[in-house]
Amino acid sequence: MKLWQGRFSAPMSADADLFNESLSFDKKLYRADITASLAHAEMLGKCNIISAEEAQTIQDGLNGILSDVESGALTIENAEDIHSFVEENLVKRIGQAGKKLHTARSRNDQVATDFRLYVRESCDKAISLIKALVETLVLRAKESAKYLLPGFTHLRKAQPVSCGQYLNAYSEMFLRDLDRFAACRRRLNVMPLGSAALAGTSYPIDREITRELLGFDEISENSLDAVSDRDFVADYLFAASLAMAHLSRLCEDTILYTSDEFGYWNIPDEYSTGSSIMPQKKNPDLPELVRGKTGRVYGHLTSILTVIKGLPLAYNKDFQEDKECFFDAETTLFSCVSIYTALMQKITFNVNRMFEEAGGGFSTATDIADYLAKKGMPFRDAHGVTGRLVQYCIKEKKTLFSLTLKEFRKESELFEEDILNAVTPRASAEARNSVGGSSLSAVRRGVNSIRRRLKKY
Ligand code: ARG
Repeated sequence: MKLWQGRFSAPMSADADLFNESLSFDKKLYRADITASLAHAEMLGKCNIISAEEAQTIQDGLNGILSDVESGALTIENAEDIHSFVEENLVKRIGQAGKKLHTARSRNDQVATDFRLYVRESCDKAISLIKALVETLVLRAKESAKYLLPGFTHLRKAQPVSCGQYLNAYSEMFLRDLDRFAACRRRLNVMPLGSAALAGTSYPIDREITRELLGFDEISENSLDAVSDRDFVADYLFAASLAMAHLSRLCEDTILYTSDEFGYWNIPDEYSTGSSIMPQKKNPDLPELVRGKTGRVYGHLTSILTVIKGLPLAYNKDFQEDKECFFDAETTLFSCVSIYTALMQKITFNVNRMFEEAGGGFSTATDIADYLAKKGMPFRDAHGVTGRLVQYCIKEKKTLFSLTLKEFRKESELFEEDILNAVTPRASAEARNSVGGSSLSAVRRGVNSIRRRLKKY
């Protein structure tokens, strides 16, 4: 029997019922639904809309359902959706009083409230998982601050950078993600309950009571908007999408850096996979999967934006489509962040190989140009002189840091003995002591700054 059966003379046909149902996925909302109903019942009692005894009976019944679901004694099944399931079970348990729970409420404000409660918790979980990832990255950054590796632009060696600085770059991205989830949580923490179906309610409810009980910061100020606002789902899915984008970039770097061709890092065996045919292979399936799953989360963001667009006010059943995309995105995000935290804890650095490669590709050429510019040569001319030195090295199969002072001076009289040190990869990285730069002390300051900002969460 449906909650709304009264108006109909025939029961719903089985195929229509199956198509219409949402219990198979919105059962995840059981705790949020019961929590919101407990608060609603308490408010109804306090406002004398139902009697104090009825409110108490309802609350006892709801708590019984909650503990039976959690113990496994009660299976969530045989209802149109989670809201119907809880209400039908309540009536089965406590009889008449249970039928009063839905006074001054509609499933429209109910589902909007439940889902906000659920997404709020999910923001907290996302924040704690991403925080753990940043804690790992910053720990690895601290221990690898002194190691150099090539820094790239256009995936061509550009300048030597510190491994710690490189890892700190990802911490910066994930700090922004933390901020986004915190902002999403703050924006969604507005309570729709009390908006009823769309127009508000004629009962003398006190929304402040339920707001307080449910930990919302504010109550919604327009009932039409409140029952049909799913901005918070889009907000969450955008935050999740961008966090996945950042993870995916880290995956891409991991895949490249652990290849034979680069050889900078190693993924330990416990986090690697093999090939069914090629016995020698050690494959980076985990980073590849995370990179692949990013597309799936983007897809969910597109889904919700498309569901919202073009809907007439107020509630429409289209909104039922807000849940599966959300649930899949949160599961995907959580599993990807967790596996990557584990992987980054275990990844090892091939320090010597990184160092050798950091000096390749004439990566300290900018230091030569800077050297001349600091001695008074206009930078553009210094760039030209250095370009000719690079050409000379290519022709003679030399590196910039193997040139003699005599060779330097053939291009400019400004060169003196100290150029020979200035042109080494270590000196190049150390020279960049600006905030956020590659010098050891700049990287250590970066580590401290990240740790300080992380404390906010
Ligand atoms: N399962 C529904 C949803 O997810 C609950 C709200 C139903 N409201 C309604 N007017 N049919 O949106």
